[in-house]
Amino acid sequence: MLIHKIEDVREQVKAWKKAGLKIGLVPTMGALHAGHKSLIDKSVEKCDKTVVSVFVNPIQFCAGEDLDKYPRTLDEDVKLCENVDIVFAPTPNEMYGEGHILSNDFLTYVVPPYFYTDKLCGKSRVGHFDGVCTVVNKLFNIVQPDFAFFGEKDFQQLVIIKKMVKDLNIPVEIVPCPIVREDSGLALSSRNKYLTDEQKDLALVLSKILFNIKSCYDRGIVDVKALSETAFEYLTPKHSLEYLEFRDSENLEEKTVADDDTRVFIALKIGNVRLIDNISLGT
Ligand code: PAJ
Repeated sequence: MLIHKIEDVREQVKAWKKAGLKIGLVPTMGALHAGHKSLIDKSVEKCDKTVVSVFVNPIQFCAGEDLDKYPRTLDEDVKLCENVDIVFAPTPNEMYGEGHILSNDFLTYVVPPYFYTDKLCGKSRVGHFDGVCTVVNKLFNIVQPDFAFFGEKDFQQLVIIKKMVKDLNIPVEIVPCPIVREDSGLALSSRNKYLTDEQKDLALVLSKILFNIKSCYDRGIVDVKALSETAFEYLTPKHSLEYLEFRDSENLEEKTVADDDTRVFIALKIGNVRLIDNISLGT
């Protein structure tokens, strides 16, 4: 069932709660692919009812980012959601109010701690995670899910959402879901749609760098500097590396010596397209 209005979701949720049903929420920005589908299938398997939200959230895009051209494919998204109970696709007016002004002078924001947002993607996307936490908190309040499903593809986002839930005592269990990749290794992303065939080939270096680092670690190399240097054989002048960092999986603290709790994070630009990926060095 496709629903656009908050009140209609609330009415349905009320009935489900009354019947004692467990609700799963999969928050998305649409342009759904097999990565999103893996979260949806997990929710359907684990919960009695599943809600997928499809909302390109304006407050998590920074100035100069791709808000206007972000792919919007609601008809196809709804088809991919055949096994879910509600696809919730509100307009920005519905979410933020008619004539809304999306600045923190006028809107209440949920601001995650600086320690988690001053690094990795947060460094170049200032305010991004404020926008994410604010909209996810709103979705939690609207849907009141027992479980919410987030992909490890956006690992910093997952860590920050878990922290928000803990700090604000939100009664929801966050379920992390593994990264879904193409056979080539490329992590699925709605932004892959922006890539030309040539750029898609260039994009393979993200996973190649990460897989190579993992195999070096498996062979006993633990010095982060040495592991980082293995990346340079893959990078060309067409890749603009933003970061390659080794951090703790739980709290994102920097590592100088890799261990099984280490996660490797990479972000780079090919043309105007910014891509991210990550891998765990543990099993
Ligand atoms: P979006 O980029 O649409 O992603 C929605 C969810 O799908 C996120 O939890 C993301 O990590 C997961 N996902 C995307 N690609 C994946 C892949 N290849 N494998 C596994 N999971 C994948 O993330 C957002 O939207 C927004 O920030 C949102 C949380 C909806 C708030 O607006």
